[in-house]
Amino acid sequence: KGTKVIEAAERLGIIIPRFCYHKALGAEGACRMCAVKFLDGQFKGVQMSCMIDAQDGMVVSTTDEEAVDFRRHVIEWLMMNHPHDCPVCDEGGHCLLQDMTVSGGHGIRRFSGRKRTYRDQYLGELVQHEMNRCIHCYRCVRFYREYAGYRDLGTMQIANKVFYGRFRDGALESPFSGNLVDICPTGVYTDKSSRYRVRRWDLQRTPSLCIHCSLGCNTVGGARYREMLRQEARFNEAVNGYFICDRGRYGFAYAGHRQRPRTPRTGSKEVAFAGALRFAAERLASYDAGQVACLGSTRSSVETQAVLEHLCRLQSWARPAYFFDPALQRKVSAAVSRLSGSTALSLREIEAMDCIVAVGVDPVNEAPMLALAMRQASRNGAVVVVIDPRPIFLPFDFEHLAVPLNGLDACLAALLKGAVSGDDAAWNGPAAQAMDEAMPSSCSADRKIQSAISRIGSKVASSGRLALVCGTDIVPESTPSRVADALSLLSTAKERAGLFYVLPGANCFGAALLSASAPRSSFAEMLREIEEGKVRALIVVESDPFMHFYDRRRLEKAIEKLGLLIVLDYLPSETVNRADIFLPTRTLFETESSYINQEGRLQHVARVHRVGTPIWQVSGGSHPPREYGLPVIGGEPGVAWRVLADLARSLSPHDEDPCSEGPWKIVAEQYPAPSKWQMTSCVPAEKRIL
Ligand code: SF4
Ligand code: FES
Repeated sequence: KGTKVIEAAERLGIIIPRFCYHKALGAEGACRMCAVKFLDGQFKGVQMSCMIDAQDGMVVSTTDEEAVDFRRHVIEWLMMNHPHDCPVCDEGGHCLLQDMTVSGGHGIRRFSGRKRTYRDQYLGELVQHEMNRCIHCYRCVRFYREYAGYRDLGTMQIANKVFYGRFRDGALESPFSGNLVDICPTGVYTDKSSRYRVRRWDLQRTPSLCIHCSLGCNTVGGARYREMLRQEARFNEAVNGYFICDRGRYGFAYAGHRQRPRTPRTGSKEVAFAGALRFAAERLASYDAGQVACLGSTRSSVETQAVLEHLCRLQSWARPAYFFDPALQRKVSAAVSRLSGSTALSLREIEAMDCIVAVGVDPVNEAPMLALAMRQASRNGAVVVVIDPRPIFLPFDFEHLAVPLNGLDACLAALLKGAVSGDDAAWNGPAAQAMDEAMPSSCSADRKIQSAISRIGSKVASSGRLALVCGTDIVPESTPSRVADALSLLSTAKERAGLFYVLPGANCFGAALLSASAPRSSFAEMLREIEEGKVRALIVVESDPFMHFYDRRRLEKAIEKLGLLIVLDYLPSETVNRADIFLPTRTLFETESSYINQEGRLQHVARVHRVGTPIWQVSGGSHPPREYGLPVIGGEPGVAWRVLADLARSLSPHDEDPCSEGPWKIVAEQYPAPSKWQMTSCVPAEKRIL
């Protein structure tokens, strides 16, 4: 019931041609490309398969001569105005219109009139506009306005002048604008990042991930000549669906940036990797185990985090820290510890909720695709409440309770107390007590907030599917636990209720699992020990204290006190510049690696391209050099976990290589709850570990 004929056919493996229909956007009936012939049942003759619900007794032919002829004519009509510019169009090779034109057999142009032409608009630095190629399928505006909720792109003009664009030239306002490139069935919107530089078939394309926030959206990385040029959304039903945000799509330039440090260094001298490792081992050997500290990162892969832990254990060094602020570590650990297979919600589940209460989180900035999921829930009629002191923007109407940070718990308690007031028995027990305590008069001080709470409270109470979304960045330390307490109070009364924490880092979940039992859990504590002279040597793995630690003066003084600073990273940073020994590492695109997103989903991805300086930077043009030679220029960066394992071997040359069979054994040993882990090797895959 409710399945369109085009969808029913697809389930049977029969793909009916289409332009305007898209699974995420539904049917529009605009392009007439999905024509099929209805032979029996309620409908008869040639009809649009995207507009008609499949019914019992229907007999549909996709190959009937009349339907095929109709579709052939549709292509011919579209090609009357579409420019024959495939040789210079960036969409060439992955253009739906090109595919349909070729497969439909339209090869000879009969129309001899002038083509309709437009003036293209400047839409910002990410998306190129080429309006002449438009086939008026409305996919772009349906995505931009209806699905994503932004208003600055729309359908303009009338009749034969209809175009899709902005009222005036200007950068697109939506942080999801790059999806226009994926969703347009022809080349109206193309990526500026790869414009005129690459064809689809020239790209090395590999399933990859975005590591710019904790959601772990799935992508397809596209590289050519050792350089990432394009990234597209990869469909994952439970995570990002069909789309990604612009940060994820376009945030790859760091991998091929000219300033990326690629050569091992001791002091300011560039050296070979083996020499740098030997030197690092010699210098480290001159310190007692208690004088060495390690700082890991929430952006490092599972493999790197695990091997760093292993190295510390082998050398009897203190366990690494991953967070800069001890309170943040405690908040993230509290959040992770309260998630379980039944309480953790996926983005897809968020879309299906009828009430979402978000506390201390700014979705568009902290986890953009969460905002898009919340919008889908809102479009389906969900009530969305955000309790946060900041001026929050979301691309839909929502209730904003702007209470100060110290009032977040109280406001949440007051809101949810209203939700269970019909069933007083639920407001008992320790979780309820904790919530009760959180509800002092600070909340009642603001009349406006109070009346909003009583107005919204009844909606929260009557909802059947409730999501509690919680940030971990600005919230007080108690909030992640309070939110989980609230869930345990409400879950029995709801058809479905769950938690969605937003964490500050792509692999923050992994770092929280590891640091929960570490005695020194943050860089702040480590810094104190450096100041006291207890720690003399520091190893920093893919992190930059100068970027993240709040007290720069204190940091500068402490770093100067160190006897040895070893840094492993792929980004240029002040910490890298100050390193006594620098060991370059590979990016996500240059090695296979795994990350755990904020809901506990372990995702493993393969390498997109080989490590090395992009060809255009070393050959003086976009063509590879005519003469080849070894080694690859800029090919020194090592896989971070392998570099750490090599450091372990340099420190204890007589011991076995800890990663002789890859990092998987160590990963399984280091992370808690190994029974929950099922690592799959080398294939793009995902597993939910909770
Ligand atoms: Fe990347 Fe987060 Fe955007 Fe997803 S929402 S594409 S993980 S930055
Ligand atoms: Fe059915 Fe466009 S896909 S009319």
